[in-house]
Amino acid sequence: MTSVPPTSPAVTAPPVEPRDLEEAARSALPAEVYDYIATGSGVEETLAANLAAWRELALAPRVLRDVSRVDVSTTVLGTPVSSPVQVAPTGYQRLVHPDGELGMATGAAHAGSLLALSTRATTTFDELAGAAGPWWLQLYVLRDRDLTATVVERAAAAGARALVLTVDTPYVAKKARSTAFPPAEVSPVLVPELRARGDEGVWQDPGVTFADLAWLAEVSGRLPLVVKGVVRGDDARACVDAGADAVWVSNHGGRQLDGAVPTARGLAEVRAALPDDVEVYVDGGIRNGRDVVRALALGATAAFVGRPAVWALATGGAAGVRDLLVTMRADLEETLALCGCASLADVTPDLLRSANPGDWAGAAGGSHSAQR
Ligand SMILES: Cc1cc2nc3c(=O)[nH]c(=O)nc-3n(C[C@H](O)[C@H](O)[C@H](O)COP(=O)(O)O)c2cc1C
Repeated sequence: MTSVPPTSPAVTAPPVEPRDLEEAARSALPAEVYDYIATGSGVEETLAANLAAWRELALAPRVLRDVSRVDVSTTVLGTPVSSPVQVAPTGYQRLVHPDGELGMATGAAHAGSLLALSTRATTTFDELAGAAGPWWLQLYVLRDRDLTATVVERAAAAGARALVLTVDTPYVAKKARSTAFPPAEVSPVLVPELRARGDEGVWQDPGVTFADLAWLAEVSGRLPLVVKGVVRGDDARACVDAGADAVWVSNHGGRQLDGAVPTARGLAEVRAALPDDVEVYVDGGIRNGRDVVRALALGATAAFVGRPAVWALATGGAAGVRDLLVTMRADLEETLALCGCASLADVTPDLLRSANPGDWAGAAGGSHSAQR
């Protein structure tokens, strides 16, 4: 196995099991905060389906390969990272820990992972300045377009390496287990003007279309643009045609359209629709190294974790986030070795087998050629 990169302090904590982290966070957090994070929308069909879909893909390990060294380092839009596991944007992180996004950024940086910072962050760009490793800004296009442009310009000035435009949230869906959350006093403060101000200008603009991608590229000074929240091949293609540099397959962790396809399935469709040189990312139910291998085998360059990182922040602050990411990296290394893969380039679609007996005769399949 590769050793922990020099950026990472030695990890002394016992291995972190995301399932245990959630239980620990549930005990530590007020019930309404836990519910706000854990909940899906509707009756939580998609929340459950995201988790199940990864497990339906059985792994078919190769044997008699030299796996005495396993390297899981890679790059994401050109940025070197210690593993393909990165941190998804989640809003209002000071709800779960006083360090909020600062703790999340520090933990991600110490693990050598990339952070996507939410538009609904409860920490300012200035506070984050010294702590963060490489980070992207997740953007909602707000009804107040001038304010949107201000957020983008300040993110670019503060060092964001890319913009992640979230497109699955024209309206915030009703949550199954959480009605009045987040409370108004936990206000986003990324830039002071974002603070809840009693009008609809700070809400997501439901009128955003593909045509707005060019506008965003313009105001950001041509930062790379990632579109997050795509599950269809035709939409993915249209995003790239409209100027997106990469596509992020997501259904918002089952918090938006309930009944939406699980992301494992969306990933297969999106990957097939795009040229091999366009990076595709995925999130939703990624919980361990096996899920990451499945995502990579379906053609993802990186997999992002949402709730597990929040549970880690809630229970252990920055060190908890670092330990989660380092543990997931170690689990990925072990899984790769047991799959007969010495590097991410060895992870190809033929590692996967469907759980559906109707597909068994066809055995290995898949169309994309190799991992980036
Ligand atoms: C509490 C919470 C807040 C979130 N806030 C945002 C957000 O501000 N912007 C965004 O694009 N996605 C947001 N998401 C979605 C995550 O980025 C990600 O898509 C999702 O959590 C991945 O699924 P997972 O939690 O199963 O890993 C949020 C998710 C949660 C659980």
